Amino acid sequence: MQPRRQHVLLLWLLFYSSMAEALEPISTTIAVGMAAALTGILARYQNIFYYFHECCRPEWISFNITRLKTDLDNKLFGQHIASRIILKAVNGFMSNPNPKKPLVLSLHGWTGTGKNFVSQLIAESVYAEGMHSRFVHVFTSTLHFPHAEHMATYKSQLQQWVRGNVTNCERSMFIFDEMDKMHPGLIDSIKPYLDYYDKLDGVSYRKSIFIFLSNAGGDGIIQTALEFWKAGKNREEIELKDLETTLSLSVFNNNKSGFFHTSLIDKNLVDFFVPFLPLEYQHVVQCAMAEMKARSLEPNPDVADQVARDLVYFPKSERVFSVKGCKTIESKLDFYT
Ligand SMILES: Nc1ncnc2c1ncn2[C@@H]1O[C@H](COP(=O)(O)OP(=O)(O)OP(=O)(O)O)[C@@H](O)[C@H]1O
Ligand SMILES: *[C@@H]1O[C@H](CO)[C@@H](O)[C@H](O)[C@H]1NC(C)=O
Ligand SMILES: *[C@@H]1O[C@H](CO)[C@@H](O)[C@H](O)[C@H]1NC(C)=O
Ligand SMILES: *[C@@H]1O[C@H](CO)[C@@H](O)[C@H](O)[C@H]1NC(C)=O
Ligand SMILES: [Mg+2]
Repeated sequence: MQPRRQHVLLLWLLFYSSMAEALEPISTTIAVGMAAALTGILARYQNIFYYFHECCRPEWISFNITRLKTDLDNKLFGQHIASRIILKAVNGFMSNPNPKKPLVLSLHGWTGTGKNFVSQLIAESVYAEGMHSRFVHVFTSTLHFPHAEHMATYKSQLQQWVRGNVTNCERSMFIFDEMDKMHPGLIDSIKPYLDYYDKLDGVSYRKSIFIFLSNAGGDGIIQTALEFWKAGKNREEIELKDLETTLSLSVFNNNKSGFFHTSLIDKNLVDFFVPFLPLEYQHVVQCAMAEMKARSLEPNPDVADQVARDLVYFPKSERVFSVKGCKTIESKLDFYT
């Protein structure tokens, strides 16, 4: 059966091509030429399309370690632990062509210490469009999941969103802001996606990045930072091991952390707990200087000093750490310049 069919096909081809050549040699050539040209135009058009329209391709999504490193070194102040972990974690994950699970980071710390800021730096080092990328998704508990009584709906909605978005692009990034205001249990609904699975329903989540932001555990970090300060030790001497265990434990046992008794921690699905230290006077000055530079003003140390001096610091007696971190610098600066 098979050889005979091949013979017939060959004969037919021979016949057809000779006929075509005999009948209309010119138009055949033209047709072939046009087809080739069209293919070329289509290919080029596709490239132009990729060029102007963000899509899930290396032109738009590729990790630039130089960018992340210089940004962390130059723009993030007073977070030596976070800076080091983030660079290692993201670089290790992005340079692995075949990760076993998605990257899951949980950033913890006092308000205004740079958690959202760092997630922005990560997004900018991976996506050409940064936070504006179609593949970066931010979920804010108080905005997307405000009512405890709708938990069942939120759970299925969140699963659908994550699944839909990863189906579109496996290099997706999900940022969960205000985790401490998230109903405990909601985050468990995406647990399967964070686990060591090859594929779930035909979708692989292993190249996605999940980042959780919360103030939970911030008190413990402050405690440690204060102990170091009181012992006259350098802030840079604080190491991850001084903080990490207490951090994951306190977050797990805190019913207001969004991670209360969650299987994410039970099952070690969070790759890194990243502590953000409370910021000191000198860091607030740096933030103010950076903000002036960002507004293309001449950075003025006197103004920066004044901004920093007018902030509130704690503990009351020693006045070591800024209560709002660097958070209100932007609006304060309007007042002084
Ligand atoms: N460590 C830092 N280095 C440089 N700038 C910082 C730092 N921390 C905060 N900032 C500045 O302050 C602004 C607010 O910080 P950010 O939103 O990241 O705080 P946060 O940790 O998310 O606080 P919250 O817990 O209240 O959400 C940032 O946009 C950034 O400009
Ligand atoms: C990576 O980032 C650095 C610093 O921002 C920049 O100079 C360089 O061109 C970037 N490299 C690529 C390949 O985009
Ligand atoms: C992706 O997530 C967004 C929320 O950020 C949601 O509105 C959208 O429907 C999701 N896309 C898909 C295909 O599920
Ligand atoms: C949370 O825990 C605190 C003490 O750890 C307890 O007083 C409080 O009732 C708990 N809240 C809920 C909603 O379980
Ligand atoms: Mg924040």
